[in-house]
Amino acid sequence: MITANAESSRRAALRALAGLFAGSPLARGQQDLPYKAETLTALDDMVNVFDFEPVCKARIPKQNYDYIAGGVDYEWSLRHNREAFERITFRPRMLVDTSGLDVSTTLFGTKIEMPILIAPTAGHNQAHPDAELATARAAGRVKTIHVLSTNSSQPVEKVAEASPFPKWFQLYPGPDLETTRERVEKAVGAGFKVICLTVDAGWNSHRERLLRNRIQAQVPPGVASPQTAPSRRRRREDEEALKPPPYRLSTTLMHKLDWRFYDDLRKYAKVPVIIKGIMAAEDAAVAVQHGADGIVVSNHGGRYLDYASATIEVLPDIVNEVGRKMPVLVDSGFRRGTDILKALAIGASAVLVGRPPLWGLGAFGEAGVVRVLELLQSELALAMGLCGKPKISDLDRSILRMPSA
Ligand code: FNR
Ligand code: LAC
Repeated sequence: MITANAESSRRAALRALAGLFAGSPLARGQQDLPYKAETLTALDDMVNVFDFEPVCKARIPKQNYDYIAGGVDYEWSLRHNREAFERITFRPRMLVDTSGLDVSTTLFGTKIEMPILIAPTAGHNQAHPDAELATARAAGRVKTIHVLSTNSSQPVEKVAEASPFPKWFQLYPGPDLETTRERVEKAVGAGFKVICLTVDAGWNSHRERLLRNRIQAQVPPGVASPQTAPSRRRRREDEEALKPPPYRLSTTLMHKLDWRFYDDLRKYAKVPVIIKGIMAAEDAAVAVQHGADGIVVSNHGGRYLDYASATIEVLPDIVNEVGRKMPVLVDSGFRRGTDILKALAIGASAVLVGRPPLWGLGAFGEAGVVRVLELLQSELALAMGLCGKPKISDLDRSILRMPSA
């Protein structure tokens, strides 16, 4: 027979145990997702970067996972970014001494140990409480560049201090030129070496995963950024600037920008300013005319314009147009060392990865981001070695068999 006292202390013990368990990432994953406990594997079990996604998915709230994973509308570009790599194969060369295999390169004066950068992505606190501080430390540990998003969950100064390794700052303009300039000066003052202006997100996209989660905003509630949190006056100005958005579409504050904005920005930013979101060779040519320091060929990971081409498809024309005049970087869908090798052989200077580091962060924090980058680095090294091309500077299109345009 259980006495009243014994019963209440048994309940208290159970409650304490339940509380302990509920706080663990394992339990959170099991509550939210159809994943089984056996998918929650250890860092050492991760064989490629895809392995991190289910672990991340199981460990973070569903709406955060959906925000990271999602694309726009039908998600055709999201899928096609991956499919397009399937159409390019290798013509490797043999009996070449590849013992001096080296995947390091130099970008804007910084030597990086791999031509693989962390793309700017909003709100890393959605993946892990250490957020961008962990991401910056991880990038510094493997000696590559973290491009910090304007929508970061940690302030630029704190991210700057998190690791001494050079970092870049991605710019979303503020409601007016003054705010934008303040943003740039703050980042440059904190030591960020390059400004990366994103130009492909002027109108808010229709992300159905978010809408189904009943999140109307682009960025879920947890992603208020210290950079963008507006003062009350600014918020009023923001609202003014947005009126009236045609066709019931909501805009971001970038929908009015044109090349004059870029010219001004280049004048006051004291560091190189590259343009992210270029998809047409004609725009790349205009960028050169405006003295751009570089471009990132990107469809934003399939998150803004659906049926945008895959970036690997448009890269050859863009490199043909401007590749000798400035660095051409590329992102959207890169998940394998072989994907990266294809872009480098076409003529890209480096590749950025967006979701994979977030999966690493969500799954295992800083150590996960490190491992994601190391896996990509070693896959790239293996593919280069087996193609008979030990150095990045040896690469050209002769190792590729490409679909005819
Ligand atoms: C992004 N991206 C992005 N780009 C940008 O310029 N500023 C930003 O704040 C964000 N935020 C953001 C959040 C999340 C969750 C994702 C997945 C992406 C786009 C990003 O820089 C990059 O272009 C893509 O992520 C590249 O595609 P993959 O590697 O994710 O396939
Ligand atoms: C996104 C924005 C923040 O892709 O760039 O979610």
